[in-house]
Amino acid sequence: MELEDIRREYSKGGLRRKDLRSDPIEQFNFWLQQAIEAKLLDPTAMTVATVDDSGQPYQRIVLLKHCDQDGFVFYTNLGSRKAQHIEGNAKVSLHFPWHNLERQVNVLGVAEKLSAAENFKYFTSRPKESQLAAIASKQSSRISARGILEGKFLELKQKFAQGEIPVPSFWGGYRIKPTSIEFWQGGENRLHDRFLYSQAEGRWDIDRLAP
Ligand SMILES: Cc1cc2nc3c(=O)[nH]c(=O)nc-3n(C[C@H](O)[C@H](O)[C@H](O)COP(=O)(O)O)c2cc1C
Repeated sequence: MELEDIRREYSKGGLRRKDLRSDPIEQFNFWLQQAIEAKLLDPTAMTVATVDDSGQPYQRIVLLKHCDQDGFVFYTNLGSRKAQHIEGNAKVSLHFPWHNLERQVNVLGVAEKLSAAENFKYFTSRPKESQLAAIASKQSSRISARGILEGKFLELKQKFAQGEIPVPSFWGGYRIKPTSIEFWQGGENRLHDRFLYSQAEGRWDIDRLAP
């Protein structure tokens, strides 16, 4: 089969203005809950796009860990490529691809670091192996062999066999404060529904966009 012939109709139902919450975070959490209930694989997975100093974008998937009126939270290595990008330009874009529901959500916003207390709370809730892996991996750096990583992991496992593992200084979370959020629902005959929430002086304006 040719790639050009791969396509499908989107028929799960439309999105009407009357069905929208006036608050985009409420609308997002409503859709996220439906994605979880629909048992989508990795419903909290989102693509995070950042740009480097030259304006070159790069995207990667991370897991959303919290979403409320303050923003969208994820955790990562604070020396990683994404962290370096954010250091130079805090504007990021998030994307949720909920294919089975024929939906996507796009978020534009600004990243800020979480507090040490927030990092501690989440880090200590993670399985011990994940905590050790976070310490063992100098994320995004070049390594010569997998064995080095595994050796470091085993060394740390012995070191912290007893007692709590301290939160490494190079690990933590970001909160993306949204400036706009777009909801997309696939429609028949490619007449999809798109609604854009834009922040305007403390309130959210809602506009329908052409598909
Ligand atoms: C399903 C999935 C979930 C992931 N979740 C995270 C995450 O929560 N945090 C993270 O730092 N990397 C996560 N990753 C790995 C990232 O995609 C990426 O490879 C890593 O963060 C390094 O990105 P960077 O070099 O651009 O900083 C995940 C990857 C996948 C496929």
